[in-house]
Parts: sequence; C-alpha cells; structure tokens
Amino acid sequence: MDKDYMRWFLDARFGMFIHWGIYAIPARGEWVRNQESISNEAYQPNFDTFDPIHYNPAIWARAARQAGMKYAVMTTKHHDGFCLFDSQHTDYKATNTPARRDLTREYVDAFRAEGLKVGFYYSVIDWHHPDYPIAGDRFHPMRNHPDYKDHAGNMSRYADYLHAQVKELLTNYGKIDVIWFDFSYDDRSGEAWRATELVKMVRALQPGIIIDNRLGGNIKAAEPEIYAGDFASPEQIIPAEGVTNELGQPIPWEACITLNDHWGYASQDKNWKPAKTVVRTLVECVSKGGNLLLNVGPTAKGEIPDECLDILDEVGGWLHENGASVYGCGNAGLPKPEWGRYTRRGDRLYAHILDRGIGPINLRGLQNKVAYARLLADDSELRLARPWNAAEYPDDAFITFASAELPNDWDTVVELALSD
Ligand code: GLC
Repeated sequence: MDKDYMRWFLDARFGMFIHWGIYAIPARGEWVRNQESISNEAYQPNFDTFDPIHYNPAIWARAARQAGMKYAVMTTKHHDGFCLFDSQHTDYKATNTPARRDLTREYVDAFRAEGLKVGFYYSVIDWHHPDYPIAGDRFHPMRNHPDYKDHAGNMSRYADYLHAQVKELLTNYGKIDVIWFDFSYDDRSGEAWRATELVKMVRALQPGIIIDNRLGGNIKAAEPEIYAGDFASPEQIIPAEGVTNELGQPIPWEACITLNDHWGYASQDKNWKPAKTVVRTLVECVSKGGNLLLNVGPTAKGEIPDECLDILDEVGGWLHENGASVYGCGNAGLPKPEWGRYTRRGDRLYAHILDRGIGPINLRGLQNKVAYARLLADDSELRLARPWNAAEYPDDAFITFASAELPNDWDTVVELALSD
C-alpha cells in the first residue's frame, strides 16, 4: 500500500460520520421510507417542514475535535434522495425547505475551521428521483406497490444526474478529502452507475481524494477495478484480523459504527454504547490496522443528541491522555496478548492493558527489547525489573503494577520504547 494520498487517513484513525436529513423528523432512522413503504407524497411533509433552527455545525465540529476525531463524513444525499446541498439538478434540496440554506456548505466551512478533514457521503441509490428504476428493486419504498411494478425508470438518465451531482459536490466546495459512495447491490452496481467514468471524473476534480469501496468493485482482488475504492468499509462489525486482499496484503479499512442502533436520528433508540466500549473499539481497529468512523444522527432541529455529546466528550478525555497510542499507529506485528492489545508507531509499542489479571504483566518475547516503559497517561516510569518469580520465563519482559486495579479500567496504556 503505497498511495501517498492515503497517509493522513491512515494516521487519523478516528472520524465522525454524520447522518442527517429530513428523515430526522419521523425519527425512526434513515430507512424509514423503505421499512414503512412511504410514498413520495406521504414523505413530502418532512420536506415542507424541515426547519433546523439550531443547526450550527461549528458546535458539531468542536465536539468532533474535542472527541479526538480528525475527519468527518456527512451525508449530502441519502437514499431518500433529499439533498443537503444546493444542487442545480433538483428542487429536492435544503434551500427549498424552511431551512433555506446550503447546509453542506456550512458543514464544510465549520469542520475546515476546526482543522478537520472533510468528507461527503453520497447515496448512489435514490428513492425519490423519477428515473431511478423501481421494478425489480429490493429496497425501493414502492417496490410492492402495484402502480410501480413495471416502473423501469431510466438508469442511464439517472446516472447522468448522479454524475452531475457528484461534479457539483466536488467543484463547488473547495478541497474534499473523502467521497463515500453508498451502496451497490444486484444489478445496481459498477457500470450501472458508469463507475469507471465516475471515478475518473472524481480523481480529475479532486486529486488526492480518498474513495470508499461501495461502487460495486472488488477491493480485495489482486487487480481491483478502477472504481474498487481506496479502503474497505466494514459496517457494524470489526474484522477479526483486519482486512487483507487476495494476495494476503493488508489493505486500508474503516469500520463504520453507530453510537446507538440507527444511523439517522431515532428518538426512541437509547441503546447507547458506553464511552469505554467506544475507546476499546477504536483501539481494536487501530491494532488491526483500521480506522473507526463513529456515527452521530442529529435531530431535525440540527442538534447532536446530548447523550452522544457526553460519550464523545468522555472518549476525548481518554484520547487526550492516550492519543499517542492511536494516531499514526497500526498493527504491531505481534500476537495478541492475553491482557489486551498492542498498537505501534515505529519504535513505540503501546500495550493496551484491558484485563489486569494478577502479578506482573507479561510482555511475551520482549526481554532485552524494551529500553523503558511509561504510563502514557502521565509519562510516569513503570518498572521493567525482572520479578523474582519470573525466572522460568527468560524471553519475556514484565511490567509491575503496585496496585491490584489498573489505573484506567477502560484501557491503561503503557508506552514501550523498543530498543532494536
Ligand atoms: C448502509 C445503509 C445506510 C447507512 C450506511 C452506513 O448500507 O444503507 O443507511 O448510511 O450504509 O454505512
């Protein structure tokens, strides 16, 4: 993997996913039209009344930065077809709602101002556009409606629309760091989107942009299609051993994970993951060479739910102390230790101790390989002296904690300076 333009992404490790749109009004997630077979007409009141009076993306951007996130990806159009940007190719856009503004532009400006990299999610699926074929589609809200059973649409004209919108997004908003297409299935895949031509346009408009892998190509192939993308995007799961291609080579990946059980705002869903779980998930990703894109679903008024902000704040507290074990780090190339995980950046090895156990912490095979050990949270020295009872384990190094409890029960990070 020697794509230079991927460097910042591989170092960043932690980003914010933002699913926001008029589906925040029904507040049952962004698939509500599909799940409840909602027609364009029945969905229209959400468009007519969308009025995010508290939308201030500077607040979102600050929350992301303070959480330790380095980039963000926001929905510019989701499957419902609603555009948060001021597209010249549709009326179905934020500027025609009571919001009356280009919500995408404000997002870009605010996140840039906080020093974060900026990404656009764009749904290649469209449940509103008249040319999008409905007959034979597994997901369209009208798939079972008799009036649409022969609706063949016009895929090639729809693809023109898709291309024109992507061109706008990558022309009118300055430098864009990530484009996150979503998603392909059945015959709605690859060249159905005219994906080769699309990706050539994307690369020409935004040299250095990073593209996800959901246009339908096979990123794991020995010779991936031009549209196979730059990173794999496992969803709501962390791959057991990272992601490798058919040749066994590691490839970049980013797990996208919700904080509760929905991407879009869901008012009844209070199944929040604790900050401890988020921290451990982030560390798991990094230890396997991947990123974590953590989702928030703001309300129709334009606010990230308080529960999310609290979790993000706590995660930021841990990263403030332990960020050196995450940013720029990756797979340490060592077997997973019993007590937790390793991450590594050059000659810095980070022991993430999740399970204290009893006695000294065993660093298998590292005897005489560690110059010194420190508690990363405060740079205080940890003793590497061989304990009296370790004589039978001459190849292993040991760290001694005086206390029976770990200093940080989410994840206590020990920085080990490797000496060779
Ligand atoms: C999906 C979904 C979706 C969500 C997403 C995030 O496949 O259709 O609603 O935006 O991927 O990964």
